[in-house]
Amino acid sequence: MTKTKIAVLVSGGGTNLQALIDAQQGGALPSGEIVLVVSSQRGAYAIERAAKAGIPSVVCNKKELGGTQEAFESAICAALDEAGVELIILAGFMSILSESFTTRYRDRIINVHPSLIPSFCGKGMYGLKVHEAALSYGVKVTGATVHLVNEIPDGGRILLQKAVEILEGDTPETLQRRVMEQAEWKLLPAAAELMSAAIMNEKENA
Ligand code: GAR
Repeated sequence: MTKTKIAVLVSGGGTNLQALIDAQQGGALPSGEIVLVVSSQRGAYAIERAAKAGIPSVVCNKKELGGTQEAFESAICAALDEAGVELIILAGFMSILSESFTTRYRDRIINVHPSLIPSFCGKGMYGLKVHEAALSYGVKVTGATVHLVNEIPDGGRILLQKAVEILEGDTPETLQRRVMEQAEWKLLPAAAELMSAAIMNEKENA
């Protein structure tokens, strides 16, 4: 049976993409294969990570595509279709996707978010802002969540979560790093394998 074809959507540094590549190369993603990386930003370091791993990448930049959500998403869909993608992984992808996109790929998109959803999530909560919010609230425990993506930002069914302690003297940057190391880089490859295996199973039983 062929492996589940995965696209990873990125916007920046791509450390979560790297965790997925490392999992694939280390045999921890036996049911899936990353066939495409889509970046919303030209020059994102994630593109170099893809190139180093021999994975094709494409840039779909909203501004360059005329600025509409429709043109942006149809460029992404065209690239996904051409590569035969069956599972979409949002790994630091900083654009919100419309309902027509999430409906088209229902139960086929997962996202990693750097908090314990439903805390510190939703529209406008991304990257360092999430950790700033956790620190300013004063919570003692935060973490990361991998969830299915639907039309509600960070609102889809939770697949995996892991808690991470907040330490005295943490800054948004030190906390971001600990959440990545202790939670995101472990959860995302595990969720990718879970979903890939489930999709393979579905194909076998179809
Ligand atoms: C990660 O912490 C990811 O969880 C977060 O952005 C960072 C991207 O880092 N995503 C969100 O906040 C989405 N709401 P990376 O490019 O090094 O993987």
